[in-house]
Amino acid sequence: MSHLVAPSVLSADFGNLQRDIELINNSEADWFHIDIMDGAFVPNISFGFPVLKAIQKHAKKTLDVHLMIVDPDRYTQMFKDAGADILTVHLEACAHLHRSIQNIKNAGMKAGVALNPHTSVHLLEDVIADIDLVCVMSVNPGFGGQKFIENTYAKVAALKKLIIEKNSKALIEIDGGVDMNNYKKLLAAGADVLVAGNTVFGSADPAKAIKQLKQI
Ligand code: DX5
Ligand code: ZN
Repeated sequence: MSHLVAPSVLSADFGNLQRDIELINNSEADWFHIDIMDGAFVPNISFGFPVLKAIQKHAKKTLDVHLMIVDPDRYTQMFKDAGADILTVHLEACAHLHRSIQNIKNAGMKAGVALNPHTSVHLLEDVIADIDLVCVMSVNPGFGGQKFIENTYAKVAALKKLIIEKNSKALIEIDGGVDMNNYKKLLAAGADVLVAGNTVFGSADPAKAIKQLKQI
């Protein structure tokens, strides 16, 4: 499978959200990456259900929803109803991660687990075979446009090894600071999905930036 590109809507122009959604629809992007922040798990608040539903109304591609919220199980069904195809919860936000994963799958979505930069991939050993996606945070979650953490390459390689060992089908997604200088090295380390906010929407030509990130 060739790799996927998921522009992060967090960096879109919210005054022209429909325009930016159409831009992604008409580009080579594969997914919409949607960041939900609650001001408790992370020091920022992004947006909630009314905005997500507005995105869903126009988006014609997979909705990859990244929850940076405490106790995400409270909202599993609501995210399904709002159109999420993939629902990713943070390992650090779940007291019963196995149950959270099963809830997401039982609701009819693909299940992802996100890891903060300080969290070892080895903590996924007992659930890796059950999940569809691992979101490796390559910045501390909360904001777009932050600097990429270099340790991510080693982490991706270790995760890839674990996925093979456990015969898991999980995709490796990289989230934070992905740019034109590091994306090829990330793909070489084993990444399957590249999230990009600032690199896409901070560019003069977002569709061209997406096209470039699709190139190997
Ligand atoms: C950070 C979010 C990211 C963010 C990425 O907490 O999870 O998805 O939008 O933005 P860039 O690509 O600008 O680092
Ligand atoms: Zn994200």
